Amino acid sequence: MKAERLFNIEGKIALVTGSTGGLGNVFAKGLAENGCTVILNSRSRKKVEAQVKEFKESGYQAYGYAFDITDGEQVKGTVEQITEQVGVIDILVNNAGINLRAPLEDFSDEDWDKVIGINLTGSFLMAKYVAKEMIKRKSGKIINIGSMQSELGRPTITPYAASKGGIKMLTKGMATDWAKYNIQVNGIGPGYFKTDMTKPLYENPEFDSWLCSRTPSNRWGETEELLGALLFLSSSASSYVNGQMVYVDGGLLSTV
Ligand SMILES: NC(=O)c1ccc[n+]([C@@H]2O[C@H](COP(=O)([O-])OP(=O)(O)OC[C@H]3O[C@@H](n4cnc5c(N)ncnc54)[C@H](OP(=O)(O)O)[C@@H]3O)[C@@H](O)[C@H]2O)c1
Repeated sequence: MKAERLFNIEGKIALVTGSTGGLGNVFAKGLAENGCTVILNSRSRKKVEAQVKEFKESGYQAYGYAFDITDGEQVKGTVEQITEQVGVIDILVNNAGINLRAPLEDFSDEDWDKVIGINLTGSFLMAKYVAKEMIKRKSGKIINIGSMQSELGRPTITPYAASKGGIKMLTKGMATDWAKYNIQVNGIGPGYFKTDMTKPLYENPEFDSWLCSRTPSNRWGETEELLGALLFLSSSASSYVNGQMVYVDGGLLSTV
């Protein structure tokens, strides 16, 4: 079969959470450029509206819904609204996430709840409500965004690592429950990419040189380098791939 047909996602409806951020914006653009109608999201109405405007000016089909993925009622209501106003979501990218840094012994209970709430519970809530229509239809793609911390610890970000390790198992669990409905649930584990989240890291020359020497490719990733995995997992090219994490990391996880 020709790659063109195998990877074709034209006409699909795709929702990317946290699309106004660095990687979410790249994921949403990649899906829109390949013919999807994209639903843009973050908690900020202003940012979402600006992004919808920019996407439309580029000729993309885009809608915006500002809501907080940690609020089950808002998630349920908005997913129902999207289904009614735009259509059934074919592709869900659970991308929204945060990282808070502190030594574990000083990490506040409140910040722990924030990190787990957005990174893990938010992904569960989104998938639960989006999957309801996918189950009825017997088709769908869910892509959960993990991290190197789905596999590795790192000082001062243990709650983040717990949430991203959780994403790996949430992915496997969702695949276990929903594969029978022809829903493929997989994850992407990005290595290090320059976004607002990693600003404290790439602005730190010590971290920058440590990372480049630690990564077999000897460099940071370019955000567009995540699109190959995204298109694979969004299309019928991955119709028998389920519960897997695809790490896009310049080889970082493969070496010590
Ligand atoms: N950058 C990297 O190198 C890297 C590496 C591995 C994994 N990741 C993962 O990739 C994802 C995106 O990271 P990024 O670097 O692009 O981060 P970012 O630039 O900080 O963007 C995060 C996005 O999530 C949104 N968001 C946060 N909380 C939300 C909530 N409760 N409801 C809805 N939206 C929310 C933010 O918008 P508002 O704050 O306006 O709501 C923003 O649009 C995250 O899951 C992150 O863990 C990133």
